[in-house]
Amino acid sequence: MSNVPSAGLQPAPRRLGTPLSPSATRVMLLGAGELGKEVLIALQRLGVETIAVDRYAGAPGMQVAHRAHVVTMTDAPALRALIERERPHLVVPEIEAIATEMLLDIEREGLAEVIPTARATLLTMDREGIRRLAAERLGLPTSPYAFAGSLAELEAAIGAGIGYPCLVKPTMSSSGKGQSLLRGPDDVGGAWEYAMQAGRVAKSRVIVEGFIDFEYEITLLTVRAVGAGGEVETHFCEPVGHVQVNGDYVESWQPQAMSLAARGKAQAIAGAITGNLGGRGIFGVEMFVRGDEVWFSEVSPRPHDTGLVTLASHRLSEFELHARAILGLPVDTSLRAPGASAVIYGGLDARGIAFEGVAEALRVPGSDLRLFGKPESFKKRRMGVALATGVDTDEARKRAKLAASKVRPVAVQSA
Ligand SMILES: Nc1ncnc2c1ncn2[C@@H]1O[C@H](COP(=O)(O)OP(=O)(O)OP(=O)(O)O)[C@@H](O)[C@H]1O
Ligand SMILES: [Mg+2]
Repeated sequence: MSNVPSAGLQPAPRRLGTPLSPSATRVMLLGAGELGKEVLIALQRLGVETIAVDRYAGAPGMQVAHRAHVVTMTDAPALRALIERERPHLVVPEIEAIATEMLLDIEREGLAEVIPTARATLLTMDREGIRRLAAERLGLPTSPYAFAGSLAELEAAIGAGIGYPCLVKPTMSSSGKGQSLLRGPDDVGGAWEYAMQAGRVAKSRVIVEGFIDFEYEITLLTVRAVGAGGEVETHFCEPVGHVQVNGDYVESWQPQAMSLAARGKAQAIAGAITGNLGGRGIFGVEMFVRGDEVWFSEVSPRPHDTGLVTLASHRLSEFELHARAILGLPVDTSLRAPGASAVIYGGLDARGIAFEGVAEALRVPGSDLRLFGKPESFKKRRMGVALATGVDTDEARKRAKLAASKVRPVAVQSA
């Protein structure tokens, strides 16, 4: 961990009150999935009054919040009306697909504080905004890239220098949706079509990125929190290594071994991008590494799914770090033990599933489980995660994967 003080006036720690009373500190989570659920639990432990918002009833975070609301979060008037009604002190986005322009108004009018900042949520929901900031304004190393608004523009961009192999991604998308790996000119048309179908907004643009032949990829969890002097300091967790399949993480571990030079570059990149985005809270800075070379990929201004591993490996999980940081409280990013996480997918399409093999999973030494409580399972939906510690990440990874493999989601016959 290292601390880099940053300039600017910073708020004092927020005084914590009693939930459901006039002294309450109220926090609204926009998005109440498995990551939001853990943030809500961490806030609950500090006596914060919590409000969970998501697009469907019974979302994981709703099950542990004081109040829950079902709202389409891209619907600016509906979301604004809810914020005016609930009057949270802090609005904490957990997902990207939110009416972020409206959050700028909320922040400007002083209605609530947006975590980490409204500008950060706006920039990072659009690959174009964050890539141009990172590469063109901050000069951070990234893959070669171009943006295209039509098939012809895409073909021209690849021809003009991006070359093959390359990746095409909708600028507004996450979790690998609409992404294709292109090996030659025959793949361009299909990639464009696929991106158009999967993008989050009607009028879509794509980013085309040159393929980085990395050795490994990391998430550098970076926390901006108020230090003893009242200024925001930047704290770096140990790097999280992970494996992605079709843009979805399946396994992560911490610490990922890195050369000293690569580690230094990764911290400098994470410090620069999070420093520019500003505010308080945790960020997941995704980077690619080969030897001593490091490329910035993207950043989430919120807890990161690969950081679920910190529930096992950290003294304070990324969710507790986020809760503390957003409340203006001190953080401690120290590692407890080498750890790993392995995703448990639904494996079937059904509502109200059950889990077999939980006891067997928990018999794996050093293991733990999170079952998210999602009301509906899909084959490729993340329904839980197995966690484990070990003497090193190899042992932790074996244990986490073994524990995950013991858990079997099953359909339940309705009466
Ligand atoms: N330029 C690239 N070169 C090589 N691999 C890449 C490149 N861009 C993306 N990838 C691979 O695809 C994964 C997903 O890409 P990216 O993070 O941009 O998409 P995403 O939809 O935001 O995914 P997520 O939401 O899971 O973070 C990366 O973690 C990496 O494994
Ligand atoms: Mg990513």
